[in-house]
Amino acid sequence: MQIRKITPSDAAAFIEFFTLLLKQTDFLLPSAKEAAISVEKQTEIISTLDDFKQIFIACDSVKNRIVGFVGVTRFNMEKNKHIANFAIGVLKDSQKHGLAEKLLAEAEKWLKAKNVRRLELTVIKENIPAIRFYEKHGFKNEGLRRQSIFMNGKFYDEFYMAKDLGC
Ligand SMILES: CC(C)(COP(=O)(O)OP(=O)(O)OC[C@H]1O[C@@H](n2cnc3c(N)ncnc32)[C@H](O)[C@@H]1OP(=O)(O)O)[C@@H](O)C(=O)NCCC(=O)NCCS
Repeated sequence: MQIRKITPSDAAAFIEFFTLLLKQTDFLLPSAKEAAISVEKQTEIISTLDDFKQIFIACDSVKNRIVGFVGVTRFNMEKNKHIANFAIGVLKDSQKHGLAEKLLAEAEKWLKAKNVRRLELTVIKENIPAIRFYEKHGFKNEGLRRQSIFMNGKFYDEFYMAKDLGC
């Protein structure tokens, strides 16, 4: 298993991965429709990734496919450039093997090198596996965003969680 930065040549494989991931979970923000983009568009998005927005992927070299990702976004104003947030996901058949842990570690390494102090996220209250994962990795619950997600005809609350990276 290889954890690395995504490159434009990963565009088609990333679309395949992300489409499957969104079929497996409702807990990520984009809908399947919103994520259905062309290889050209995905290539363009990857080409614009920089020091403020980055995607790391987990590649299964045996099965020759992407099985996990973490997408990191740094804030860019003078007053909040010490903050970043992220989204993470691993395909069902690759979960519980420490892949999200490896992806998060790679993202944190990248962020620390850029002096990011605060890493934050929001997570739907019902997403117990993710909440347990974040707690295990030092994230603390900072409060509730009431009815911040609307899906499948229902409103859901999210927790705000954050971690001090010690920079
Ligand atoms: C959350 C997620 C990224 C974890 O990925 P993973 O590769 O399975 O995680 P790891 O193997 O690195 O870590 C395992 C830890 O995560 C937590 N965890 C993972 N699955 C769990 C489950 N079904 N129930 C409870 N805790 C779980 C536990 O803390 C576990 O540690 P433990 O084995 O010591 O109990 C994965 O479940 C996922 O992709 N979910 C769908 C997308 C999603 O919800 N993303 C987050 C949106 S905020």
